[in-house]
Amino acid sequence: MLDFAIFAITFLLALVAAVLYLYPASRQAAGIPGITPTEEKDGNLPDIVNSGSLHEFLVNLHERHGPVVSFWFGRRLVVSLGTVDVLKQHINPNQTSDPFETMLKSLLRYQSVGGNVSENFTRKKLCENGVTNSLKSNFALLLKLSEELLDKWLSYPESQHIPLGQHMLGFAVKSVTQMVMGSTFEDDQEVIRFQKNHSIVWSEIGKGFLDGSLDKSTTRKKQYEDALMQLESMLKKIIKERKGRNFSQYIFIDSLVQGNLNDQQILEDSMIFSLASCIITAKLCTWAICFLTTSEEVQKKLYEEIDQVLGKGPVTPEKIEQLRYCRQVLCETVRTAKLTPVSARLQVIEGKIDKFIIPRETLVLYALGVVLQDPGTWPSPYKFDPDRFDDESIRKTFSLLGFSGAQECPELRFAYMVATVLLSVLVRRLHLLPVEGQAIETKYELVTSAKEEAWVTVSKRH
Ligand SMILES: *[C@@H]1O[C@H](CO)[C@@H](O)[C@H](O)[C@H]1NC(C)=O
Ligand SMILES: *[C@@H]1O[C@H](CO)[C@@H](O)[C@H](O)[C@H]1NC(C)=O
Ligand SMILES: *[C@@H]1O[C@H](CO)[C@@H](O)[C@H](O)[C@H]1NC(C)=O
Ligand SMILES: *[C@@H]1O[C@H](CO)[C@@H](O)[C@H](O)[C@H]1NC(C)=O
Ligand SMILES: *[C@@H]1O[C@H](CO)[C@@H](O)[C@H](O)[C@H]1NC(C)=O
Repeated sequence: MLDFAIFAITFLLALVAAVLYLYPASRQAAGIPGITPTEEKDGNLPDIVNSGSLHEFLVNLHERHGPVVSFWFGRRLVVSLGTVDVLKQHINPNQTSDPFETMLKSLLRYQSVGGNVSENFTRKKLCENGVTNSLKSNFALLLKLSEELLDKWLSYPESQHIPLGQHMLGFAVKSVTQMVMGSTFEDDQEVIRFQKNHSIVWSEIGKGFLDGSLDKSTTRKKQYEDALMQLESMLKKIIKERKGRNFSQYIFIDSLVQGNLNDQQILEDSMIFSLASCIITAKLCTWAICFLTTSEEVQKKLYEEIDQVLGKGPVTPEKIEQLRYCRQVLCETVRTAKLTPVSARLQVIEGKIDKFIIPRETLVLYALGVVLQDPGTWPSPYKFDPDRFDDESIRKTFSLLGFSGAQECPELRFAYMVATVLLSVLVRRLHLLPVEGQAIETKYELVTSAKEEAWVTVSKRH
């Protein structure tokens, strides 16, 4: 028997227990098409587990029941939205809290979730400034890390298989730790210790939605809690160091410290950022390179842009703005990989979508993975085609979904920059090639990754 999903539990924590029993008898889901609970206690959780992931469950559910569907997380009604059209009716562009971050916060059981609008706005701005300024201050460092990776790849014989996911994770963790937490992480041993703790924490919360098994295994739970505590005390130490002193290197945490947030808020925001941006950056780079290896034409066009914009000079923050096709490649990577397939909001006051009433306190899922492969919005949705982002209306839709523009989360903004620098360094000197016969299967968790290691080979450009 399954328990509640961790996800459901943590969302419930914020609410009074009574809500649990709000809809025990009326299982008609307010007339919204969908499925009834398969089990009294677990609702449709067994169905989700059988589907392999929440994303795959939602694909199936939307296929059968349309753009607005309902199901049950335990005894809780959940509504999922699966087209741009219905999402438009629900997304409030003025919203200051990011659904992906909100989800992570609740998974980590952080309690300062109840901030008011102006407080949330301030925190959002501080995170954005933290990203912008730390990237500016550490651009040379980022370039150096990318070049180190290039040198390593250049040193390999042509047929050597490179474990892409592993290299990208290493690169992302190095970049993130130094930019978020500073020069302590020039020491590779520190990076490795961080990465080990990080991977323990992420392997639990990254699954996010399913199975509640963490709560049943005391060993796993203890490991998870220890690792989280280690990460927290590492951050606390750095926050303390940065207070009241000026350093020549600007790091992400400085923005939060200078913004007069209290210690708990600084800890939470820097924890969320460092946890999530390692993964988002690593997966964005991994998928981008995977897709480039399978599309010679796109890689050629990207090379030509890099060559034309950079000439013989190095990549600079100003030049990055001009790498427009590169940005399209990254957007198309996020779309094709369905990088973050689901996000969620809690319905605060009763709302309406199409003809359906969404009751107060319903958990509303944005089935982004479903939307990103909807042929009504993206012609030939399974094709990796960066040129589709030439179209202004496509760019607008992408931005509405929170994957670019004003609504993009700081982690993704950071990842776009890091990936752009890395691609410009790699593609300039190397052809990125697939390993023949390799079929990459996808694992849909909070962030989408490959089920097994993705291998690539490289050859030098002449
Ligand atoms: C967003 O803010 C603008 C200006 O403050 C306001 O006119 C608009 O109604 C708001 N939109 C929503 C959906 O709340
Ligand atoms: C929001 O919360 C902060 C801190 O708790 C408080 O100082 C501020 O006055 C509040 N703002 C509004 C508009 O309620
Ligand atoms: C502020 O953000 C938190 C999560 O980050 C969210 O739970 C809360 O609802 C937000 N407050 C408002 C008024 O949007
Ligand atoms: C987690 O970090 C601490 C402090 O840096 C370190 O001592 C510990 O070995 C790390 N945990 C793992 C599993 O590496
Ligand atoms: C740090 O620098 C800022 C501006 O550059 C300055 O206003 C502040 O007084 C400095 N603080 C310390 C402790 O030196």
